[in-house]
Amino acid sequence: MLLDGCDENAVAQAADRLAAGELVGFPTETVYGLGARADDDAAVAKVFAAKGRPVDHPLIVHVTDAAAARPFAAEWPAVAQRLCAAFWPGPLTVIVLRRPGMAAASAAGQDSIGLRCPAHPVAQALLRAAAQRGVAGVAAPSANRFGRISPTQALHVVEEFGDALLVLEGGACEGGIESTIVDCSRGRPVLLRPGVLTLAQLEAAAGEPVHARDAAAPRASGTLEAHYAPRAKLRLMTSDALRAALQVPGRPPLKLAVYSRTVPKSAAPGVNHRVMPMQAVQAANELFSTLRELDAEGAHLIWVEEPPATPEWAGVRDRLQRAAAS
Ligand code: TXA
Ligand code: MG
Repeated sequence: MLLDGCDENAVAQAADRLAAGELVGFPTETVYGLGARADDDAAVAKVFAAKGRPVDHPLIVHVTDAAAARPFAAEWPAVAQRLCAAFWPGPLTVIVLRRPGMAAASAAGQDSIGLRCPAHPVAQALLRAAAQRGVAGVAAPSANRFGRISPTQALHVVEEFGDALLVLEGGACEGGIESTIVDCSRGRPVLLRPGVLTLAQLEAAAGEPVHARDAAAPRASGTLEAHYAPRAKLRLMTSDALRAALQVPGRPPLKLAVYSRTVPKSAAPGVNHRVMPMQAVQAANELFSTLRELDAEGAHLIWVEEPPATPEWAGVRDRLQRAAAS
């Protein structure tokens, strides 16, 4: 059931469902989320079941503001404070040590918890309405089945979970890839998942280096090697390799789609060709919806031209590498 997220009554209805321990789909500025009240282990279990997500993969808890985040944390490190002050509400998730007893199922048993205050007005309205009903935080992974592409439009959520789920319509997500995750729970900040915020922006706000993740980082679904996969096989190629492959004489592979940064001079017949925006922010915005469209158009194979290895492309490159690993 798709309801207008700008309609107060629809938001109230969604908040009622959350309060009753039901699931709700809602927009954020990154991707759509599948929410459940974070303090209700049975409600959170429904999220894992609906997604087919392994139970040891923690969920992010969404809150109205930094003050609402604090009760979930055992401690609130200065660096988390600085990052949240700079980017909340916005596309940043911080991992901090969890206050024992809080949102245990959401945290999948970890001693830490991921917290995020989303900027999307519909998400904000829903979180505030839920808070009025005693829901202090909403656990929400991306509203897709495990391993699949995150939804950036309300209809994608309906595609994933069917019409029984109440989904608040909030338009196409502005960010298009999931939030940047910084682990602030282990002494020094570690970037667990790149998003649209650049490392330079994070470090400027943190006032200290933000480190790359290493083998000691917790295993987490968004950080698995293979994830965000379209149904088609995706192959990430350098510009040269792509050009060479397209010049091979004869028929191109059947049901081939090409997602490249440059338009080839002569497109081979039968190849579904898309052009990736030259700006990273725009490319992130379109990435998942383009992959979904190519799937829907019947592609069996997608050749993607690798974006530049520069910091602003880190989020898009990360998602493409994982899609290619599936
Ligand atoms: O943009 C987003 O973050 C979206 C929207 C809905 O807010 N949510 C999202 O959730 O992407 P999900 O579940 O698809 O990805 C959450 C990521 C996973 O990689 C998860 O393992 C990690 O956050 N995570 C959550 N809590 C964690 C924790 N305590 N320690 C380490 N990683 C954690
Ligand atoms: Mg996800």
